[in-house]
Amino acid sequence: MKPDILDILISFSSFSIFGWMLEVSYRSLRNKRFVNPGLLKGPYLILYGAGALMLMGSVYLLQGSHLATKALVYLAITTGLELVSGFMAQYFFQVRLWDYSDQRFNYKGYICLKFSVYFLLLAFAFEYLVLPIYQDILIRVSPAVKGLFAGVTVSAILADFLMVSVKRFLSVTSGDEAMMETEFIKTARPLLEHPGVARLSQCEHHRGKTRLEHVKEVAYLSFLWGKRFSLDCDSIVRGALLHDLFYYDWLREGPRLHGFRHHNIALKNARTITSLSQKEEDIIKRHMWPLTVIPPRYVESLIVSLVDTFCCARDYACLKKHDKTAKATAVFVGYGHVEAVWQSNPQACPQGTDRL
Ligand SMILES: [Fe+2]
Ligand SMILES: [Fe+2]
Repeated sequence: MKPDILDILISFSSFSIFGWMLEVSYRSLRNKRFVNPGLLKGPYLILYGAGALMLMGSVYLLQGSHLATKALVYLAITTGLELVSGFMAQYFFQVRLWDYSDQRFNYKGYICLKFSVYFLLLAFAFEYLVLPIYQDILIRVSPAVKGLFAGVTVSAILADFLMVSVKRFLSVTSGDEAMMETEFIKTARPLLEHPGVARLSQCEHHRGKTRLEHVKEVAYLSFLWGKRFSLDCDSIVRGALLHDLFYYDWLREGPRLHGFRHHNIALKNARTITSLSQKEEDIIKRHMWPLTVIPPRYVESLIVSLVDTFCCARDYACLKKHDKTAKATAVFVGYGHVEAVWQSNPQACPQGTDRL
């Protein structure tokens, strides 16, 4: 059977879920307690979904081939997939999903002969036992049901994967975290102490949040992303702290079309309190992109613009209830800790800067 895109998506989801059930049963029985395998939170293992798709393609292409040829291809697929995914999980997420180090004939604990043979047998079972039944069921299911199932499950898997990736991407060791906080404080403090910036605490910005809280939040989250991408974090912090430097209540007063104009007002105000680099100017000027058509010139500007949009959307969507003083969200947890460190160790921070 030649599958279409809907069949591919539905097969990926179905076998991801089936693989999860298989692994949960095996690991839970082995450990005599419930074990949720894999990197993601939901009941699916995308390794099995990807493996099933590759095997389905091979079965289709190897119709009529000798059993030995099939065995070689299936072995290459299952063992190769295991090796690549084990290595990627370790490299990108610092997670060891399985470890065959205690098995004979293993390679760095990612693959071993015993489990390669198991997966080869599983691949043949997949071809001769599972696939005929599965394809028979697939033909009977209406396209609407397939679409609904594929839409819900693929979206859930994708959202889960993105959330885990972002969380892992931003997570740091406690040692690195302390270093980054100190660096953030050193960069942010001179501007935050300036009366022109401190005055933002008097301005309401989003849903009970002051403008100062908003710019701090954008600056800290942008700083974390900047660190991950090895960007110019000084410019990110300074640009983000100044990106909404205006003092009117934009809901009740100020210029018409505030959304299209306030970046220029902020830039003008920022120039009066500090000297700005080209990059910092671009961060302030382009932070409303894509509302303002001209795109950012620097990756740093793009990061601040995206983080600003995310923070605004979160404030209005009320996904998490913000507590102005407590640590209610991940960003505020980070910044709240920064402020605590700052207050406990003010000497760590310079009292002025030649850039002010
Ligand atoms: Fe803004
Ligand atoms: Fe903003």
